[in-house]
Amino acid sequence: METGLKGRSILVTGATGGIGAATVRLLIKEGANVIASGRDEAKLSDLASEVGCETLPFDLTSEDEVKSALADVALYGVVNCGGWGGEIATPMETDTAVFDKVIDINARGTLLVTKYAAQSMIAAGHGGAIVNVSSQASLVGLAGHISYASSKGAVDAMTRVSALELGKHNIRVNAVNPTVVMTPMSEWYWGRKEIGGPLLEAMPLHRWATEEDCAAPIVFLLSDAASMISGVCLPIDGGFTAV
Ligand SMILES: NC(=O)c1ccc[n+]([C@@H]2O[C@H](COP(=O)([O-])OP(=O)(O)OC[C@H]3O[C@@H](n4cnc5c(N)ncnc54)[C@H](OP(=O)(O)O)[C@@H]3O)[C@@H](O)[C@H]2O)c1
Repeated sequence: METGLKGRSILVTGATGGIGAATVRLLIKEGANVIASGRDEAKLSDLASEVGCETLPFDLTSEDEVKSALADVALYGVVNCGGWGGEIATPMETDTAVFDKVIDINARGTLLVTKYAAQSMIAAGHGGAIVNVSSQASLVGLAGHISYASSKGAVDAMTRVSALELGKHNIRVNAVNPTVVMTPMSEWYWGRKEIGGPLLEAMPLHRWATEEDCAAPIVFLLSDAASMISGVCLPIDGGFTAV
């Protein structure tokens, strides 16, 4: 399969985390010029030494930081992977400060990066692709996920509206919706047998996703192999949301 990504510049947010770093590694293998972002500069520079990517630290909650970081960056593609899990709470117990923060990072952060990256992608006139990392939590009701699911539901909606608005510039916008990956974000909760067991039992493939299981469909959606795909929210969930 020809990805066409060789020499193309792709920004990956959340690159200091599990799914983001796996995506950076796979994009580098495909010959892309990767710009890795996160807040932790030490982790970014370790990743850069390991794989040879560029780094661009910024905080997803600051419009000024996102705007100035992206001002002079020519991009073909973006992976909006930075995110935060929030809390486990019912709608009756939820801490609205946590709700605000999870929306700020996951939904508003995705919007800010899309806003400033798309402006320069449109100006460059070469088309492009954006992949938003959403979650299975936006597709089905998961107990305790009121805030996180709301933030990822917003990401799915942004994906569809952005696909509509950017299509005329030959920029495709898609999302992936992974099931649980045992990164620190999810391990403390889903790693508990009484919590994770029933989900695994209900899932046709009966196993957790790996970071690499997520990276491959992300890279596919960025690639020329997906040139007629835009506006989809693709579950990476072992069939969980299909049954
Ligand atoms: N793990 C799962 O089970 C799972 C399942 C479905 C979807 N997802 C989604 O996949 C994405 C990556 O998840 P992961 O498990 O790989 O997470 P992770 O290992 O916890 O990494 C989270 C990433 O988000 C970045 N981040 C958090 N807050 C930020 C902020 N304010 N500004 C800039 N960057 C920020 C972190 O960067 P710094 O630490 O450098 O700030 C880090 O790179 C997230 O969007 C998550 O919601 C995860």
